[in-house]
Amino acid sequence: MIKGLDVRANERQFIELKEYIDSIRQSQGILMQTLHKAQEIFGYLPIEVQKFIAHEVDVPLAEVYGVATFYTQFSITPKGKHKIGVCLGTACYVKGSQLVLDKLSKELNISVGGTTEDNEFTLEATRCLGCCGLAPVMMIDGDVYGKLEPKKIPEILAKYKD
Ligand code: FES
Repeated sequence: MIKGLDVRANERQFIELKEYIDSIRQSQGILMQTLHKAQEIFGYLPIEVQKFIAHEVDVPLAEVYGVATFYTQFSITPKGKHKIGVCLGTACYVKGSQLVLDKLSKELNISVGGTTEDNEFTLEATRCLGCCGLAPVMMIDGDVYGKLEPKKIPEILAKYKD
């Protein structure tokens, strides 16, 4: 279960967001810009942040929620410290990327789209990452791993574990 955001503990972040909103009040597209900033500050857009934005930008909460859930660059659930993206594009898929994804899911004990309980990893499936010659491919943060086999996964994950 996802715990709510502790507003008091994140007071400084709310102040930063408020200052940002105040600085762009006259601009067009204030909601999108604010959501981007909030995502950058908090790492995701929990309901407490959505309510704050709705109030500050003066739009209904439903609209904030609608935009936050429509665009893939926003997330309303927390993301892990390390983001893993396994390519399920055609070239990777035919070379077995689903098996790589299944292995990651098993090793991390999460399903696709999920985040580990310790908030270390988020697992996602992606479209073509633009390096099909290395299929099957995955990315962890900015690092690309190609010609993957499921058996290589534990060793790769170990590099990111504290
Ligand atoms: S299909 Fe996977 S990198 Fe292009």
